[in-house]
Amino acid sequence: DSELSLRPQRLSQYIGQQRLKDNLSVFLEAAKGRQEPVDHILFAGPPGLGKTTIAHIIANEMGVSIRTTSGPVVEKSADLAAILTNLQEGDVLFIDEIHRLNTSVEEILYPAMEDFQLDIIIGQGPAARSIKIDIPPFTLIGATTRSGLLSSPLRDRFGVHSRLDFYEPADLHAIITRSAQILGIAIDKEGATELSRRSRGTPRIANRLLRRVRDFAQVKGEGVITCEITRYALDQLEVDSVGLDYLDRKVLLAVIEKFSGGPVGLDTLAACTAEEKGTLEDVCEPYLIQLGFLQRTPRGRVVTQNGYQHFNLVCPHADEAPP
Ligand code: ADE
Repeated sequence: DSELSLRPQRLSQYIGQQRLKDNLSVFLEAAKGRQEPVDHILFAGPPGLGKTTIAHIIANEMGVSIRTTSGPVVEKSADLAAILTNLQEGDVLFIDEIHRLNTSVEEILYPAMEDFQLDIIIGQGPAARSIKIDIPPFTLIGATTRSGLLSSPLRDRFGVHSRLDFYEPADLHAIITRSAQILGIAIDKEGATELSRRSRGTPRIANRLLRRVRDFAQVKGEGVITCEITRYALDQLEVDSVGLDYLDRKVLLAVIEKFSGGPVGLDTLAACTAEEKGTLEDVCEPYLIQLGFLQRTPRGRVVTQNGYQHFNLVCPHADEAPP
């Protein structure tokens, strides 16, 4: 998997998220010094920012194995019990989309996380009884696109809560340069700068667009990714000057054209863009909000003056007090 080979294996190779790296290196070193597994860690943030990558790095740095699964995949408590009893001491269990675990499965996790024990009910009716099984001490790493979706008992059992932010263009520039080198893609500085500005602050998107721009450079250019070929390719791919894609623009323009800039409720917005509410909240909105193009207000979503300006439109509520 070439996506995997682009992933850094060590904390020292990981670009960006400086505070997170600094803190993690302390927690890892401390746990190693005590010869204990690291405490359970929760990563929250939009997709593609490196939650899975960091989980693999943590396992690597601790010298343990990682077992990966995801919330919707673990359907029954017995599925999770099987995974937990098969772990080796110190292993990392990574659960992606952990907010989508069903409650019966979640309840197995509580004693497992707290006391490294499984509470299992055997039998039915009056003969049913509960037995406790010890499981090896392990580290649970959970990833979620929004920590607000996690039940608080589950959230409270993580010793480390960490948010991943969108990457600065300079960090994306370094990531693109590193990926290009690994993949043997020729790209000049200006090409990498243009691509880093238009990758939505997201390494996964940067790495995907890098391969697509390479295709254009090979077929329509001289084989080298320059600023010019990057502009041409991204225009063809309908990725605009600040990295907005088709869906981002559809959402902004829906609020502007159908609701005079808002406020409009999420349900209404989802219906009139024919998108899932969850996609809008977890994928679209975080970047639009970070750019300062969209606001979430108690009465609904509002496009800001900057949002209007991006389309060279005049904002009708520009001279009003902010909502
Ligand atoms: N590839 C994807 N994300 C990365 C990161 N944060 N650092 C280095 N390479 C990456």
